[in-house]
Amino acid sequence: MNEIKNDLLLRVLRGEQTERTPVWMMRQAGRYLPDYMKLKEKYSFFERCQKPELSAEITIQPVDQVGVDAAILFSDILVVPQAMGLEVQMLEGKGPLLPEPIKTAKDLNRIYVPDVNEKLGYVFDAIKLTKQELNGRVPLIGFAGAPWTILCYMVQGKGSKTFDEAKAFCYMQPELAHQLLQMITDTTIAYLKGQVKAGADVIQIFDSWGGLLGPDDFENISLKYIRQMVSALKEDVPVIIFAKGAWHSLQSMAATGAHGLGIDWCIQPEIARQFAGYKVVLQGNFDPAKLLSPIPVIESEVKKMMNAFGSSKHIANLGHGILPNVPVDHARAFVNAVKEFQIQK
Ligand code: CP3
Repeated sequence: MNEIKNDLLLRVLRGEQTERTPVWMMRQAGRYLPDYMKLKEKYSFFERCQKPELSAEITIQPVDQVGVDAAILFSDILVVPQAMGLEVQMLEGKGPLLPEPIKTAKDLNRIYVPDVNEKLGYVFDAIKLTKQELNGRVPLIGFAGAPWTILCYMVQGKGSKTFDEAKAFCYMQPELAHQLLQMITDTTIAYLKGQVKAGADVIQIFDSWGGLLGPDDFENISLKYIRQMVSALKEDVPVIIFAKGAWHSLQSMAATGAHGLGIDWCIQPEIARQFAGYKVVLQGNFDPAKLLSPIPVIESEVKKMMNAFGSSKHIANLGHGILPNVPVDHARAFVNAVKEFQIQK
């Protein structure tokens, strides 16, 4: 494999002190970039995911145009339910739709733990091509959804503020729910190992809906399965867990042995550090909506954030994905403010 020139992210995740804090943005490959919007006119969402040349091109756009210290593969967490045999549509302006969600034991017979090389080989091809085209400029982050977040979509069938049907499924049919969570976990472990084999340098697990569960449910329904994933991967690759809203469980997430933990903007970095302990790297936590502020405000807010995290064991990021209406120069101002903060020290 070619050597990585800007390896700040990898060094921080290894626990090293670096000359400055690395920065990237969740959902950086996508809708706020005009070049992405041009590709959108020509190809459907899953076409963009499935054609390695398109995925690689979109993955690299923010590296060239915004100056982030890492690339994250352009794909989606919902390629996993798709590979398990469920239909997934992406509706313009509406988000995901799974027309035949899982509700009963009978539904569970429609899905399976697939051969990931057969069903998701296109993702591995996209990773190989992206690595070639990045040519060692920055590391490449691979990812998957946490089993609970994937179950949310497989059962609810679409986005939701509460995912009440997914929760009801877990509470009314716990055995079935755990069977489904284990199937997702087994698929995802094989999928992420494939990503690492193809060249992903870091893995991030997105538990976007982890914060909908109370602490006990988070342990039983979500973290139990994330723990299996981290155990299966952590010797081979640095792993970051981002469980949005699940700040109450930072201590148990750190105990999984994950190298990094993402936090959102609803917890102070100092408090997150106390909960997570002093070994793990913290990633975050700029409010994505604050990128809609005037640039001088973005700059001063970034300074506040950087001071709160301190100069080590931190990856600067947003507290959730970048919003589609953020002007590109505001995204760039965020990245530059992080980079410059170091120079002023
Ligand atoms: O981070 C990146 O830039 C890499 C690409 C990426 C996408 N989705 C592309 C995408 C990643 C890491 C994801 C993860 C993802 N997908 C999550 C977890 C992260 C999070 O934001 O919480 C979730 C919950 C999904 C499921 C999903 N995909 C939803 C709910 C939607 C619709 C709402 C939205 O964000 O647009 C998508 C569609 C999607 N995935 C788009 C992109 C760029 C936008 C659709 C389009 O451009 O046509």
